[in-house]
Amino acid sequence: MSDSIFQTCSPYALTDNLFSRIGRDWMLITAAKPDGSWNTMTASWGTAGILWNKPVAICFVRPQRYTDEFIRQSDRLTLSFFGPEMHDALKLCGTKSGREIDKAAETGLSPLTLPSGSVTFAQANLVLDCRRLYADILRRESFLDPAIFSHYPESDFHHVYVCEIETCYTK
Ligand SMILES: Cc1cc2nc3c(=O)[nH]c(=O)nc-3n(C[C@H](O)[C@H](O)[C@H](O)COP(=O)(O)O)c2cc1C
Repeated sequence: MSDSIFQTCSPYALTDNLFSRIGRDWMLITAAKPDGSWNTMTASWGTAGILWNKPVAICFVRPQRYTDEFIRQSDRLTLSFFGPEMHDALKLCGTKSGREIDKAAETGLSPLTLPSGSVTFAQANLVLDCRRLYADILRRESFLDPAIFSHYPESDFHHVYVCEIETCYTK
């Protein structure tokens, strides 16, 4: 498959409000294993900006997510954004695991391989094609505000991935 349905753009040219796109519209984090299999999950926590003089996106993935297995076996991932017509698909990808269902079959999402080898979906209207630069895990002892612990009753602290945004695709 090709990326011809998309146009490329520089991260600096993006006009999207990433606060609302990530936090309210949500995104899919997608990664592929070396054998070509992929998984995707919905995320509404994440950030984008500049680090080490590079445009980066940072995402937060709990260790029990099936998608985390895929992320850790690849140096790439995509963050894909959609219009409201795909909201139910994102809801499903955020409530069911790829361990139990075939997310493409259940949602109608059409996987598409970008020239970098990253996987996204034909229905996306914005894709950040990323290379992982840094991986870590949030640590209990590093939290300055104990109120945040309410997010971690099972001590399943997020894995943190800082990713260089190599290419942005828009429609
Ligand atoms: C709106 C929404 C936002 C979510 N944000 C995140 C997130 O930022 N990080 C995370 O680890 N899980 C998040 N989740 C949960 C995962 O998407 C969910 O557990 C999913 O079923 C994991 O799928 P997988 O096991 O196939 O990876 C979110 C779920 C929803 C519905």
